[in-house]
Amino acid sequence: MNCSLIRFKDIGDEIEGFLIPIEAERNVTFQIKRVYYIYGVKQDVIRGYHAHKSLEQVLICVNGSVKIKVDDGTETEIITLDKPHTGCYIGPGIWREMYEFSQNSVLLVIASAFFDENDYIRDYNDFVQYKKTQKI
Ligand code: TYD
Repeated sequence: MNCSLIRFKDIGDEIEGFLIPIEAERNVTFQIKRVYYIYGVKQDVIRGYHAHKSLEQVLICVNGSVKIKVDDGTETEIITLDKPHTGCYIGPGIWREMYEFSQNSVLLVIASAFFDENDYIRDYNDFVQYKKTQKI
């Protein structure tokens, strides 16, 4: 699975609080082109339902918790993000669904490219077909 957890180094302590620097091509492996965040999601909402052809992303739940189902067309995994020091790298060709957003959760997303709707695969059957063509 082209997907892995990153444990960011947090600087500080439990009295003073923590700081986490994120640096392109260092603790995030790609050149950062875009950052966005998702908040205010009601608990029964599922977001995502898409894959990207070439985009790389790191997702960090900087407040609260969220679950992410990742699917490479062969296997699925469920990842819980509930610590601001833990990121989830998701590479190209991974279908993802984000759900069980806790109240007040904020999901920060760091991305390798500017927004491009043409990079999305938004239909699951198209995704399955796309993965088959990638294997040839
Ligand atoms: P989408 O990526 O589908 O969100 P999610 O996977 O969390 O459900 O994006 C939702 C909408 O926002 C869609 O209309 C595209 C738009 N959008 C942008 O305009 N710029 C961006 O950088 C992103 C990520 C989305």
